Amino acid sequence: MSAAATIRAIAGEAPIDCAIVLGTGLGSLADAVEAPVAIAYSDLPGFPLSGVTGHAGRLVIGTLEGRRVAVMQGRVHTYEHGDPRAMKPAIDAFAGLGVGALLLTNSAGSLRADMPPGSIMVIEDHISLFGPNPLVGLPGDASFVPMNDAYDPGLRTAIAHGAASARIALHEGVYAWVTGPSFETPAEIRALRGLGADAVGMSTVPEVILARHAGLTVAALSMITNYAAGMAAHAPSHAETKAVAHQGAAAMEAVIRGFLARLAA
Ligand code: HPA
Repeated sequence: MSAAATIRAIAGEAPIDCAIVLGTGLGSLADAVEAPVAIAYSDLPGFPLSGVTGHAGRLVIGTLEGRRVAVMQGRVHTYEHGDPRAMKPAIDAFAGLGVGALLLTNSAGSLRADMPPGSIMVIEDHISLFGPNPLVGLPGDASFVPMNDAYDPGLRTAIAHGAASARIALHEGVYAWVTGPSFETPAEIRALRGLGADAVGMSTVPEVILARHAGLTVAALSMITNYAAGMAAHAPSHAETKAVAHQGAAAMEAVIRGFLARLAA
């Protein structure tokens, strides 16, 4: 049985308004889902298991702000296996289920002095010039996916309204993808800033490309956990990323709730 069929068999046939992928340190939103049905990734064919600390491995289906959601608590990163296509089975399952929207969340470093740790940024566009593309090797012309408005303008507006109603300041910016897992050098950060990046991180972009390939409507939010390399007195660390993301999880939850309340059912 496919992952989508397994999800339907366990959680029911009702359509899912929004699939949400929770990033590092942001897993607590899954615990807020009402009438939850949790399915371990190990029971979902192809769903990739993450070994990174700060990530559980289950899909939680239920209700949030009156919308039916499927929340991925934990996700695999390209840097774990070197495979940018690792999330394809999960993305394809959401496409198979016909989800109305896909909301990706992540932790990221800030390249802007006016966007300190603890800020939330809605991604308006990305830079992915150096990493492997997840569509390399897939057959057919469908791989030539346009990436204009990959981050859906309508969903971005709904996120802006959701943040405003929750009285949470929302930044908007360009996310630069790096594979990691080593952090960037200060010279790389200066270069990325010159290219037009506002934030930098090690996830989300492969998922966005896969999701646009699968025809999904996408939005993404970054939890800013640190100033990027060379901008602060101390170097970035995974411990800081997890700790600051955890502290900011309530604000992120409020923005996501405001967004869901505005999402057409
Ligand atoms: N760089 C890359 N990825 C990140 C960072 C960073 O500074 N912070 C959180 N994820």
